[in-house]
Amino acid sequence: MKLFIDSGHLPDIAALVPLGIIDGVTTNPSLLAKEDANPSDLLKQICDTVQGPVSAEVVATDSEGMIREGRELARIDDHIVVKVPFGKAGVTACRALTAEDIRVNVTLIFSPTQALLAAKVGAAYVSPFVGRLDDIATSGLDVVGQIVEIYDNYEFLTEVLVASVRGPMHLVEAARLGADICTCPPAVIEAAFEHPLTDIGLERFLKDWEQARAARA
Ligand code: G3P
Repeated sequence: MKLFIDSGHLPDIAALVPLGIIDGVTTNPSLLAKEDANPSDLLKQICDTVQGPVSAEVVATDSEGMIREGRELARIDDHIVVKVPFGKAGVTACRALTAEDIRVNVTLIFSPTQALLAAKVGAAYVSPFVGRLDDIATSGLDVVGQIVEIYDNYEFLTEVLVASVRGPMHLVEAARLGADICTCPPAVIEAAFEHPLTDIGLERFLKDWEQARAARA
């Protein structure tokens, strides 16, 4: 499963990329709005840093505006994937941009029907928001499982990009369900490195080794 960073914060991205576990980045208008930088310049720097797919979202709400903005975003760097919100305008824009060989990530996906329609117009990625579904007592992971099943049934090439991830268990379950990608906030990726038994085990090894060395000295 590919692992993306869900963030527009360049220092966090630059800190994780050298670990060799990161395959891409996803941003959204809320994440970019947190950064004190020109969005296009920042997206270019993120592309240069991660050297993988970087999702950048349009803010227009009509299909013509989305197509226009999508072309502008795609000109920033070859790694840019244009994110459009699901809806009739988003589906129309996805079809048009895909026809121009611009990869599209259809976002704000909350149901398998939305994911099915996005795949039918050639979306490169769909982003089901598991955390926001969980927030309203609907299992986001169940929706991911249904999308994966439907895509397998019809061999859609669209990749399932699990988003709105709240903790390492979303990462585990996304992988178990066979999702193609999981995008995680930096804090979730950091948490995935943590395990108390690994720390305790290493401490004991080093203590035993040190005691033996001191005894031989
Ligand atoms: O980038 C899209 C998505 O991951 C946002 O998630 O945490 O705002 O629900 P969140």
